[in-house]
Amino acid sequence: MSDFLKLGVLISGNGSNLQSIIDHIEKGSLKAIIKIVISNNSDAYGITRAKKHGIPVVVLKSGVFKNKEEFDLELIRILESKDVDLVILAGFMRIITPTLLKAFPQKVMNIHPALLPSFPGIHGQKQALDYGVKLSGCTVHFVDEGVDTGPIILQSAVQVLNEDTEETLAARILKEEHKIYPQAIQLFAEGKIEINGRKVRIN
Ligand code: GAR
Repeated sequence: MSDFLKLGVLISGNGSNLQSIIDHIEKGSLKAIIKIVISNNSDAYGITRAKKHGIPVVVLKSGVFKNKEEFDLELIRILESKDVDLVILAGFMRIITPTLLKAFPQKVMNIHPALLPSFPGIHGQKQALDYGVKLSGCTVHFVDEGVDTGPIILQSAVQVLNEDTEETLAARILKEEHKIYPQAIQLFAEGKIEINGRKVRIN
């Protein structure tokens, strides 16, 4: 198993990106193993998805911790105890602290439902609709200390249609998320990602 990239996946909700990562691993198109799923929400459906596949789950409720730092120290403790190589934020609706980034330098990935640097933060899909762009999409990026500002690894675009609602646009974007997130992780697993400042080169 040692040539499999060891993942820690952080979720807060539905976990469809988690599911897509699980499916790609099971199909053999992603050479990785999910060592742990951590949720900050005990009602997240992603927990059920993980358990169905025999993946260990930990729920960390923010109320239990004094502050963000303490929460992230516990995250680090769990991720290190599982010997995780890469931390995957998959709909994890929490800003992580520099402490976590220091523990996993250039080893935290996120997926965002917009073509960054446009529409960072929450409700990326609604922001795109409200702005009136004709193309939106999703972005996989390394996490840095800003909000959705880290080096971009992969992006995929979708058309915004006249009749789109936030829900229909989000669903079309999500389909692309499910393709490019496993792809980006596989590129990392193959050592094909080179980071140079803001720029990511895929070799
Ligand atoms: C996804 O659309 C993801 O891009 C977004 O939350 C959704 C989670 O869906 N993340 C963010 O908005 C982060 N800023 P999922 O739980 O079904 O994977």
